[in-house]
Amino acid sequence: MTVLASALDTKSPEYAANREAMLAKLTELDAEHTKALAGGGEKYVERHRRRGKLLARERIELLLDPDTPFLELSPLAGWGSDYTVGASLVTGIGVVEGVECLITANDPTVRGGASNPWSLRKALRANDIALANRLPCINLVESGGADLPSQKEIFIPGGAIFRDLTRLSAAGIPTIAVVFGNSTAGGAYVPGMSDHVIMVKERAKVFLGGPPLVKMATGEESDDESLGGAEMHARVSGLADYFAVDEPDALRQARRVVARLNHRKAYGDPGPAEPPKYSADELLGIVPGDLKTPFDPREVIARIVDASDFDEFKPMYGTSLTTGWATLHGYPVGVLANAQGVLFSAESQKAAQFIQLANQRDIPLLFLHNTTGYMVGSRYEQGGIIKHGAMMINAVSNSRVPHLSVLMGASYGAGHYGMCGRAYDPRFLFAWPSAKSAVMGPQQLAGVLSIVARQSAAAKGQPYDEEADAALRAMVEQQIESESLPVFLSGRLYDDGVIDPRDTRTVLGLCLSALHTAPYEGARGGFGVFRM
Ligand code: COA
Repeated sequence: MTVLASALDTKSPEYAANREAMLAKLTELDAEHTKALAGGGEKYVERHRRRGKLLARERIELLLDPDTPFLELSPLAGWGSDYTVGASLVTGIGVVEGVECLITANDPTVRGGASNPWSLRKALRANDIALANRLPCINLVESGGADLPSQKEIFIPGGAIFRDLTRLSAAGIPTIAVVFGNSTAGGAYVPGMSDHVIMVKERAKVFLGGPPLVKMATGEESDDESLGGAEMHARVSGLADYFAVDEPDALRQARRVVARLNHRKAYGDPGPAEPPKYSADELLGIVPGDLKTPFDPREVIARIVDASDFDEFKPMYGTSLTTGWATLHGYPVGVLANAQGVLFSAESQKAAQFIQLANQRDIPLLFLHNTTGYMVGSRYEQGGIIKHGAMMINAVSNSRVPHLSVLMGASYGAGHYGMCGRAYDPRFLFAWPSAKSAVMGPQQLAGVLSIVARQSAAAKGQPYDEEADAALRAMVEQQIESESLPVFLSGRLYDDGVIDPRDTRTVLGLCLSALHTAPYEGARGGFGVFRM
C-alpha cells in the first residue's frame, strides 16, 4: 500500500479560515435546498395532504428499500429562474428490491406538477443517466402536463421524453409508470410508452382529452372515470397492468414489479472497502476561500479513496496535474486532479497518456477540478500548448471508460473541457460550494473587455471614458462572478448537484455502484489524430 501522507495542519489559522468559509457557503446552500424541499409551499402542501395524498419525496421513500440511500439529482434545477427551485420534479437514484433504479416523481404541489423548461431538462438528464448506466426507470406520475404559459419552450423539445421511454425499453432497460393523478394529453404517453403500468383507484386520470375537450370535439358527454380512470384502464382499455387500491398499494406493487424484472448488474459488488485514513470532516478546510491560493489535491484524494492508498503516476513530470490509481468503495479509479491550477504542455500530455492507460485497463476516471485553464503567453504558444491541450481534450472526448467529475475549486476555460466538463458527458458531475466555472475568471474577463473597448476607441480616434470603464468593469465582474457560482450553474443543469465536500466519497461510491450496472470497455484505439 502507498498511503498518502498529509501535511494538512488542522490547527492553523488558514485551515480555520477555509473551514469557516466553506461552512458559510454550506449554510447558504442549505437554504436553497430547503426551497426545493418546500415544493409549492405550505398552502399547496396542506391541500395535497387534505386530499389524502403523499408528497413526491414520501412516495419515493415508500418505494425504496428501507434504510437505503437516495442520491437526489439536480435538486436546484430552475434556480435563478422564475420557476420554483427543483422545477416541480424530483429525480434520483435509489434501491428498490435490491435493484438500483432511476426514479422520477412529479411534485404536484408546484403548479399542479406541470413541467416547465427546467423540469424538462431535468427529466431528460434523468433519462440520459438511466440509459448510460442501464438503470430501470420508475416514473411516479402526477402532473398537469406542460406548464402552459411556457409551452413554446417545451412543446417541441418535450417530445424527447416519450422517445426516451421507448428507446430505454428497446435497449432492454425496464420502464415503469405509477400513476397517482393527472397524466393527461401528452402526459398520457408516459404510461403509454412504459413497459409496466400501475394506476391508483379513483385517482389516476389518463386520457388524451378531458370531458370538456371531448364535448367540444365530438359532443359526447363523459366523465373522468369513464375516460381515464384506473378501473377503466385495468378492466377495459388494458393500459393499466396493475390496479392499486391506494397510493401505498401502488408503491408496493411497483416494488413487486421490480422484484420480477430479473435485472442484473454487469459487475458484482466489490465488497467492503477500507475507509480513508483521514477524516472526511477535514475536507472542509482544504479549499481556500480565495481560489487564487493553490491547494494540494492529494489532501482531497487522501480523504476520499480507500485506505488513502494512492499510487501516483509520473509524480515528477507535469506536476501541476496529479494523476494516479486508487480504489473508491472497492471500485478501481484513475484520478486526475489539478494541483497548481494551470495546465501546461507537460500536464496535458501526461493526462492524455494517463487517459489512454485507463482505457487499456478498463478503469473509470475521476476528474477533480481546480484549474484556471491552459497556459497562455508566447513561450507556451511556441511550445505547442494548443496541440498539447488538444491531445488531452481528444483523449477525454474519445475515452470510453466511465468518467466522474467533481468541481472542487476553479474550472475555467478550456481547462473545464480537458478535465471532462459537462459537454464531455461525464456519467456524473458534482460541484462543491467552493467551485466556480466560467470562460475565465471575472476579473480577467472584465479586464479583457476593457482592453478591447479601449483599443476600439483608439482605433476610432475617440477619447476613452475612464470613469465609465471602471463602472463597467465592476458591473461585468459582479455579473460573471454570480454566473460562475455553483447554485447558478446547478440551476441550469450544468451539474448533477452541489454537494457537501464531506459527502464526496459517499456520492462517488453511489455513482460508481450505479454505473457498474452497465458493461463498459475502454477505447483500445479510436482516438482522433493526436497532433504531435
Ligand atoms: N400550466 C400552468 N399552470 C398550471 C397548470 C399547467 N398545465 N396546471 C395547473 N397549473 C396551476 C394552476 O393554475 C394553479 O395555479 P394557482 O394556484 O396560482 O391558481 C396551480 O397550478 C394548481 O392548480 P390546481 O388546478 O388548483 O390544482 P389541482 O391539483 O386541483 O389540479 C390539475 C391539478 C393538473 C389536474 C389541473 O390544474 C389541470 O387540469 N391543469 C391543466 C392540465 C392541462 O390541460 N395541461 C395541458 C396538458 S399538455
